[in-house]
Amino acid sequence: MKKPGMSIIERAKEVAEEFEYGEEDVQRATKHFIKQMNEGLERDGATMGQIPSYVTSVPNGTEKGLYLAVDLGGTNLRICSVDLLGDTKFSILQSKCAIPSELMFAKTAAELFAFLATKIEVFLQTHHSEQLLSHRRKPMEILNQNSLNREGFLQLGFTFSFAFEQHALNRGSLLYWTKGFNIPDAIGKDICGLLQEEIDKLRLPVTVAALVNDTVGTLLARSYEASGTTKTLLGAIFGTGTNGAYVEKMSNLKKMKVSDNPAPTEMIVNTEWGSFDNELSVLPNTPYDIAVDMESLHPGIQMFEKRISGLYLGEILRYAILAIAPFSTTMIIRETSLLYKQFSIDTSFLSTAAADLTSDLSAIRQELAQTLGVEANHEDSEAIRRLVLAIGRRAARLAGVAIAAVVIKSGRLSQSTPRTNLSYPAAEDKPSLISTYSFLPEASTKPAINFFGRFFQWIRAFFLQWTGRLAPKPAIIAPVTS
Ligand code: GLC
Repeated sequence: MKKPGMSIIERAKEVAEEFEYGEEDVQRATKHFIKQMNEGLERDGATMGQIPSYVTSVPNGTEKGLYLAVDLGGTNLRICSVDLLGDTKFSILQSKCAIPSELMFAKTAAELFAFLATKIEVFLQTHHSEQLLSHRRKPMEILNQNSLNREGFLQLGFTFSFAFEQHALNRGSLLYWTKGFNIPDAIGKDICGLLQEEIDKLRLPVTVAALVNDTVGTLLARSYEASGTTKTLLGAIFGTGTNGAYVEKMSNLKKMKVSDNPAPTEMIVNTEWGSFDNELSVLPNTPYDIAVDMESLHPGIQMFEKRISGLYLGEILRYAILAIAPFSTTMIIRETSLLYKQFSIDTSFLSTAAADLTSDLSAIRQELAQTLGVEANHEDSEAIRRLVLAIGRRAARLAGVAIAAVVIKSGRLSQSTPRTNLSYPAAEDKPSLISTYSFLPEASTKPAINFFGRFFQWIRAFFLQWTGRLAPKPAIIAPVTS
């Protein structure tokens, strides 16, 4: 309801306050986060999945060899070949494309996985044509899979950024879709099998050897690069969705029975923290969050993710702008305005706005005009920037909750030289081993980095301030790539 005499800046301050999530909130949320982590370790079906990955050790940087990697993210598909050189160094070739939106809703799982296989074929033709020619399978071989000689085949690691139950290193069944995907046909099916089937149809000399969640892949990649300096604890994704995987003691993983002898002492656990506090007992819940959830593809789940990640921040902002727009003297929002259209504000707009330090806020005004057809004056832009900072800060604080909870639970804070490195990839054009880091789906590189960097600075500042125990040296934000 429009209040008479209130300016758009005053109204923006009111709305920004709704996004305030203070120190006490964070402390309470962190405690609750640790509680839900423990529940997930104890039983199946808890709010946070805490899914065992079957990965019981991490690389130490001496590993060697040429491997293929396919990374199906929430927005992009990446195909890479990585040559591990054995001294923590590697060389990487990669291609990236956006996943066509119709495939996110494909009728059958085969349609999506056939797309992946064709992209692998193109990648091999471009970068490994010799391998492809010398080992491409003869049509007859397809008929007799069992006697197939896979010698000389490239081993492929499949990074799949959705929740699945792992049955073996190269077997896992999809539990549920999140983010912008919904292909019911795939639920319960073996993801590796689906990909291998399509690869085989194209007679490619490729074996799907391992399946990992993107967070597990990130943790392993970082372990390879950083071995010797630090022991990596956590792989975290703040991308289209958000999630983390960390190294847990087997003795804490009570729901898992281990028959191996000797039993492993540690295992990487995929938290699926996007679903932390789906019950909303400690998470903030503004009218804007409620609207985003209601209109989302999967209402009622991934409540933590919906307050933090790239698929949703633009949407939260859109609803917040709608709440202040009636107080503007210049912005006219008609019923047909794009502002009423879902996803009309890309999360990359938050980076543009956060990075716009010009005196006339020209970048904000230009983008609003170009993408939404909204004519904003300086005051309107200033008001919108306030919303952007409030939404971004809240997201960073919530992200800090997850990171803090994992670090506290690991017991590392009480070690004699407490120090936490937060690492994040430097830039899109300097890829890390597993490049699942673009925070802002469609953003052009520069603003994405600005906002991504800023986001991490917020997390870092907040994390330090809150724990106050990371001295003597402050946490370092170092690029993952050298
Ligand atoms: C979603 C998926 C999760 C993935 C994360 C980041 O939360 O459920 O598996 O790791 O997005 O991509």
